[in-house]
Amino acid sequence: MEIIVTKNYDEMSQVAADIFRKHLEKQPKTVLGLATGSTPIGMYQKLVEYHKAGLDFSQVTSFNLDEYIGLAGDHPASYRYFMEEQLFGLVNINPENIFIPNGAAEDPEAECRDYEKRLRAAGGIDLQVLGIGTNGHIGFNEPGTPFDTTTHVVELTASTREANARFFDSIDEVPTHAISMGIKSIMKARRIVLLASGENKAEAIAQAVKGPITPGLPASVLQLHPNVQFIIDEAAGRLL
Ligand code: GLP
Repeated sequence: MEIIVTKNYDEMSQVAADIFRKHLEKQPKTVLGLATGSTPIGMYQKLVEYHKAGLDFSQVTSFNLDEYIGLAGDHPASYRYFMEEQLFGLVNINPENIFIPNGAAEDPEAECRDYEKRLRAAGGIDLQVLGIGTNGHIGFNEPGTPFDTTTHVVELTASTREANARFFDSIDEVPTHAISMGIKSIMKARRIVLLASGENKAEAIAQAVKGPITPGLPASVLQLHPNVQFIIDEAAGRLL
């Protein structure tokens, strides 16, 4: 595990965007694993700037980590909508190569199985970006999720629903369940970059880096991954 501590959010976003840019320049036909949340927004903005300067996304396939159950893709708080606004609508990625779990699927369990199949058929993820929840979750794999889970339906914890309530009119509107790529699916990515910014992530980062490897702190599993970088700002690295 490599840890890169940056001065602030902007520098974290720059370092992360440069990793993606270099990867795409070297390997234009690639499978990216993408994340939502506030943390990767700066990186996506920089990638959009790189695209304007010529960076090509036409051969990219992307898989997103997760989606709320019950929200259709045109709901402003859905992760599909977020990705369209932050990245997909602003670069030349082929819409047919964009995969996000369908939160409006009639049978979410079947959707999970299909998603995992699509991921396998694409050959797995070359480069995955992750954020981290204040409770150490990755994707929507909440504390207690076994490390061998593939894409699955999750019940969101109260703390995660509260943390994400800012994207909704009220906490009652935050879905109670989501579909998330599992820990096992994430760990299969050939390279992983985890981003974290701000003091409220410091405890989770310290546990993920130095704590015991335990499902109680899902991000701690990354200590077992052979090619992972944590790019965190000073505030998020305060307890290291
Ligand atoms: C959500 C997402 C995660 C994300 C986390 C942190 O729960 N499902 O993928 O990493 O929030 O979000 P933020 O970056 O907004 O702190």
